[in-house]
Amino acid sequence: MHRVVCPGSFDPVTNGHLDIISRASGLYDEVVVAVLINVTKHSLFTVDERVEMLTEVTAHCGNVKIDRFHGLLVDFCAANGISAVIKGLRAVTDFEYEMQMAQMNYRMAKVETLFMTTNPLYSFLSSSLVKEIARYGGDVSGLVPDPVLSRLRARLAEE
Ligand code: PNS
Repeated sequence: MHRVVCPGSFDPVTNGHLDIISRASGLYDEVVVAVLINVTKHSLFTVDERVEMLTEVTAHCGNVKIDRFHGLLVDFCAANGISAVIKGLRAVTDFEYEMQMAQMNYRMAKVETLFMTTNPLYSFLSSSLVKEIARYGGDVSGLVPDPVLSRLRARLAEE
């Protein structure tokens, strides 16, 4: 079975993430979306909430599994029989950081990284920007899946 991991914070999942996950699901037997448990980083949604949202919005892809991990991504790969990571590349600004992680992951554990170019519709999109715009009352519909939009509005209304 050819399995690939799509790792990230997904705080929250955007339509850009979903585009990469759906396209990867057409190329691999299984796509494992792995949410990083990062206790030091302040997040808007808990890991459980992020997993719930990802599960809901990827339900149409039969071969996508949502998981969580802490520690090194290469250790998660080894524990789950995964030899490749798939990442979306939005622009040249992503490249340096992604290249560094890809090369380090390969050096540590021979884990390969495959880059998929983002759909140009979403090349400007990031979870941080979505949160910032939504926090100040901007319209982020069309940038995140509808179930995420309603959760985002509810969470920001609580603040
Ligand atoms: O969505 P993000 O925050 O850009 O995702 C970054 C992520 C989770 C892919 C990256 O930080 C990661 O792999 N973290 C796990 C820790 C790790 O393996 N660090 C060494 C990378 S070479």
